[in-house]
Amino acid sequence: MNLKAIQAVAEQAALHAGTVLRPLFDQPHEEQTKSNIYDVVTEGDLAAEAAILPLLRDAFPEFGIVSEEGGGFEGSGEYAWHIDPIDGTTNFANNIPFFSVSIALADRQLNPVVGVVYMPILNEMFSAAHGHGATLNGKPIHVSGLGELSRAVMASGFPTTRHTLPEELNNVRHWREMLWRVRDLRRFGSAALDLSYVACGRLDGFWERHIHSWDVLAGICLIREAGGTVTDYAGVVDKAVTGAEVVASNALLHAEMLAVLKR
Ligand code: IPD
Repeated sequence: MNLKAIQAVAEQAALHAGTVLRPLFDQPHEEQTKSNIYDVVTEGDLAAEAAILPLLRDAFPEFGIVSEEGGGFEGSGEYAWHIDPIDGTTNFANNIPFFSVSIALADRQLNPVVGVVYMPILNEMFSAAHGHGATLNGKPIHVSGLGELSRAVMASGFPTTRHTLPEELNNVRHWREMLWRVRDLRRFGSAALDLSYVACGRLDGFWERHIHSWDVLAGICLIREAGGTVTDYAGVVDKAVTGAEVVASNALLHAEMLAVLKR
């Protein structure tokens, strides 16, 4: 498989989605509720998805498609695209510029081989292909070299189902446990960008449960190519995402993060 060629098409699709989203940003939005009132879709999510899917399908008809807003396609091969046309929909709906387009290609075991996360408002393209490293706007990126948890800046997120989950699963307890041990925490609202920020060293770690493949697979590819570590909460590498949970770090802080998340 020519991963560089696949990566180039994923980047073009993300850039195209950006051109569709920029004029819609900072305008009133049409919003619909999905699974509950905290889970919404806007006209931007649907427009970006409609822009991305034909480009990917035409370029690689053998790949399946798993896309957040329902654009699904089984595909004949071992690989599928996992697409979030807007990761950070709540931000977009509130005209907060921190949102991204996330596109990953992964095998059936959810191992990502290509990952692209594009931030339309700042025009930042995070991009990685397995074995080829990770870049931000074409320049190589690496995770941070920080080894002290007390100086770390990390991010996390809260699931849209949080109101129905106990405190040990809705992230309130883990947020509190981590807050006392690090320099500071951030809740930016786009898991794909949070992971990209770990990949380029702006953040030292990220964790979240109840996430979906389209939120995190591109970011996982970026972090692995940038020298970081991604596992589930038990520290198992292959179980990141398949169990709908992710702990991501610069590698140096991983064991300490897992220890805090065990509490
Ligand atoms: C959400 C964002 C958010 C995370 C949620 C996700 P969406 O994705 O990534 O940061 O905390 O778990 O659902 O709904 O904006 O695509």
